[in-house]
Amino acid sequence: MAEGGVEELRQQSLLAIGDAGDLEGLQAARTTWLGRKGPIVDALRSIKDAPPDRRRELGLELNRLRDELEAVLSERERTLAEEGLRRRLALETVDVTLPGRPRAIGGPHPLRMAEAELVHVLREIGFCVAEGPEVETEHLNFEALNIPPDHPAREMQDTFYLRDLPGLLLRTHTSPVQVRAMRAHAPQPLRVICPGRVYRRDDDVTHSPVFHQIEGLAVGEGIGMHHLKATLYEFARRLFGPDVPLRLRPSYFPFTEPSAELDIGCPFCGGRGCRICKGSGYIEVLGSGMVHPHVLREGGYDPSRFTGFAFGLGIERTAMLHYGIDDVRLLYTSDLRFLTQFQGTEA
Ligand code: DAH
Repeated sequence: MAEGGVEELRQQSLLAIGDAGDLEGLQAARTTWLGRKGPIVDALRSIKDAPPDRRRELGLELNRLRDELEAVLSERERTLAEEGLRRRLALETVDVTLPGRPRAIGGPHPLRMAEAELVHVLREIGFCVAEGPEVETEHLNFEALNIPPDHPAREMQDTFYLRDLPGLLLRTHTSPVQVRAMRAHAPQPLRVICPGRVYRRDDDVTHSPVFHQIEGLAVGEGIGMHHLKATLYEFARRLFGPDVPLRLRPSYFPFTEPSAELDIGCPFCGGRGCRICKGSGYIEVLGSGMVHPHVLREGGYDPSRFTGFAFGLGIERTAMLHYGIDDVRLLYTSDLRFLTQFQGTEA
């Protein structure tokens, strides 16, 4: 290597590194000047050809140059990377004050919330949940419940029969589950509730062809009307509050004897009398009674030993009373202005 060769190498390489405008160019300069085929490695290799008194010094100078170039390259790399980042940040402006786009989150339907609440309260009182099919036999929906073919109750409950499946229908109430549950448990004592969908051929402003009921049934030895009353009053107080006015009124159902309906003080007018309670101050909540011996026999229980009480309520009706909803159609029209009012209120 010629005299002053190392200094010349230094000038040239520093110039080349300074010229590199981006990280790629810098990488290329590193390969050119410090690579295995670069001039510095070359010069180190040819030290052996230098005069002996120059070798040591030449080696030191070349190594120093290599270290210097390494340092300059790293420093330049860092600067270029920083500049790149700053440039990107300047271009991609992020407006952190922009309001986020909220995602619409679903929630339980008020009908489902009412059902869950009813089931919760009844389970606390000691009932288990049982289920039955929505396509039911005519026998269990009617005859087994002491509703014979010519009984006027069949007219009251205008039924969807299944044209191609004689003997089957869409259940008009959850009461057939009473018989199913009894058959599954007889002769053990039993306390069950059955929530579910029921169907009737009604369709007007206050009736939907599909609606929901909960059936309750307790069967055992020595069960009397006092158990019925205590249970229903406890249930109504837990649901509507400890001070709700209650009244058990005589009624008639073919599958219970005697039968009674439970009324609560009208929550819409506080009992003063209004359009909704038709001026009576009370609103009917459910039907009930002592299970008819015919039904007990159908369920496999001996009516001379076992007695029981039953009740049935409409979930829509109860939801309306519970939440103060005055139009049943609101529960079916999927109007979000109505439905979102219930979000976040579930127990
Ligand atoms: N199944 C009756 C209906 O749909 C309601 C009912 C009344 C159920 C009295 C009962 C009961 O268990 O004891 O109208």
